[in-house]
Amino acid sequence: MIYPKPADGQSYLINSNNYRQLHQVAEVEPNAFWLDMAKRLDWMQFPTKSGNWQFQKPVSIKWFEDGVLNICANCVDRHADSTPDKTAIIWVNDQGTITTYISYATLLKEVNAMAFSLQNLGVQKGDRVIIYMPMIPEIAYAMLACARIGAIHSVVFGGFSPESLAGRIQDCGAKVVVTANEGIRGGKLIPLKANVDKALLQVAQVKKVLVVNHTSTNVPMVEGRDVVYAPNYNQAVVPEPINAEDPLFILYTSGSTGKPKGVLHTSGGYLTYASLTHQWIFDCKYDDIYWCTADAGWITGHSYVIYGPLANGATTVMFEGVPNYPNPDRLWKIIDDLKVSIFYTAPTAIRSLMQAGDEWLQTTSRQSLRVLGSVGEPINQEAWEWYYHQVGKAQCPIVDTWWQTETGGILITPLPGVHDLKPSSATQPFFGIQPVLLDEQGHEINDNSAEGRLALKASWPGQMRTVYGDHGRFEETYFSQFPGYYFSGDGARRDDDGDYWLTGRVDDVLNVSGHRLGTAEIETAATLDHSIIETAVVGFPHAIKGEGIMVFAISASHTTHNLEELKAIIKNTIRSQIGPIASPDEIYIVKGLPKTRSGKIMRRILRCIARSEFEKIGDVSTLAEPSVVDHIIGIVCAKT
Ligand code: WT7
Repeated sequence: MIYPKPADGQSYLINSNNYRQLHQVAEVEPNAFWLDMAKRLDWMQFPTKSGNWQFQKPVSIKWFEDGVLNICANCVDRHADSTPDKTAIIWVNDQGTITTYISYATLLKEVNAMAFSLQNLGVQKGDRVIIYMPMIPEIAYAMLACARIGAIHSVVFGGFSPESLAGRIQDCGAKVVVTANEGIRGGKLIPLKANVDKALLQVAQVKKVLVVNHTSTNVPMVEGRDVVYAPNYNQAVVPEPINAEDPLFILYTSGSTGKPKGVLHTSGGYLTYASLTHQWIFDCKYDDIYWCTADAGWITGHSYVIYGPLANGATTVMFEGVPNYPNPDRLWKIIDDLKVSIFYTAPTAIRSLMQAGDEWLQTTSRQSLRVLGSVGEPINQEAWEWYYHQVGKAQCPIVDTWWQTETGGILITPLPGVHDLKPSSATQPFFGIQPVLLDEQGHEINDNSAEGRLALKASWPGQMRTVYGDHGRFEETYFSQFPGYYFSGDGARRDDDGDYWLTGRVDDVLNVSGHRLGTAEIETAATLDHSIIETAVVGFPHAIKGEGIMVFAISASHTTHNLEELKAIIKNTIRSQIGPIASPDEIYIVKGLPKTRSGKIMRRILRCIARSEFEKIGDVSTLAEPSVVDHIIGIVCAKT
């Protein structure tokens, strides 16, 4: 099924009149193209250099390297100057009792005050600041305030546990944490400050904790360390001149091995890319009310709630709550209330609202919508069709945007005025993006109608620059399996029209409700309790989450716990080590795991069992103990 591009295609910013020309310049003269695109930002010193990168070791990626600018000045000051009364942020609280319109002039005042506060706590250019906050305007103020003074922020999603928080604080060497007393999501209180206190029992380096009082709860404060945020609006903080390649933020993300990696993004290239993709892909114009439902704790929140839209002087919605609270019509009501015209969300949210039933759409018109977006995982055809026909009433193109924390911005997506839509396909690369499909040996598969590993053979300004503190790991993870390419870890198919269809991760990474989790990380967490000796974690198809987490565990022979107790222990250990987002969906206590004679766990076999694809298991005679396979199948089928 193909949904042709809208008949009024010419009204889109990018349309059949200008697409081809832009596409050609980007392809033939990428450096000139990107330098031209950098003009959308205000520079203190405009760069003379464009891209300067190599994907062979030593890997090095630089964009606009002799440019100087300030990210906050680009997102705030210049609009406070030109359109002071325009709404920058519309904030909607969890309960639905408060809607706050924050103008660019007010945003400047607030960000300036937050920057002054951080300076008072001793934060200087280059220092790392951990931000562990709910979706309230202050999280945007804190991020932009860091950018204003040249500090590097690392936002940790509020759903991560104190353990995870401590690991990130330690890894980036932060001395200051910005948090809130509590968060509220779906009516539930989240003890953010208490979590910070627990994390700081493990890491001594943090000198100051800045606490925004969001709820009325009084939380214990440590004298000399903890400070209640009280904005001072009378002190001007001048935006620091920042080199284009100075770091803007670190964001931790899971991979197939080891602990989460600190993905480092820098300034000039990142903002050029976030702002351009936001404007052109969502067709965001002056009067649009744009809403991306992501939490600021993820890359989508960074690039498409805060940096991209604000760099463009747009109006961006920040929502504190969740899609099904108090009812599954929450998002649709907000769309009507605020007259949202561009709406960007995740397949997992779409599927859960679809399951809640069409009656929840009936009391709203969603008449204001004109462009819809999807991100985070492949969107299945059924969810796409529902989103298109029911939510968008067949009036709004859907941009299915493929990208990653590492890519900084969207790489593969339809442009609403240019491309025909195919449900479930992310379609075409954005300007200047050069995807390739590689076979197992790393050869490019050049014909269409091919399937392979998705890699990029050229850099783009939004690309991550390194793993914070470990450039070797950066090279190893992304550039060593297929030298000369950035390897995404995803598999994809390309059809006869050259459109891309993402088929999911090809490594040991799970995508649960659009959140990325490493199997190794969950396995390590689960074995921290002494009653568990070994675990293996695999994903399985889940109707709402996309992928669910299945844990196979071997218990210690000395344990006196029964099955249910062991399962509870595993669940709780994972939740406390990583956070509720990594809660397993199914746990099986088994006597052994399928291993090769050299001791390597054959996850492939467990994946077949988890998917009930028993016929695909194949020959098990080379396993150290072939009989464990039947044993595990027995346990999973009996659901014990
Ligand atoms: C992984 C990146 C990018 C922001 C949110 C997640 C999967 C993302 C799509 C899409 C198919 C997608 C990929 C990718 N993914 N968008 N439109 N179609 N798959 O960021 O946590 O860095 O995860 O999400 O597997 O590698 P992330």
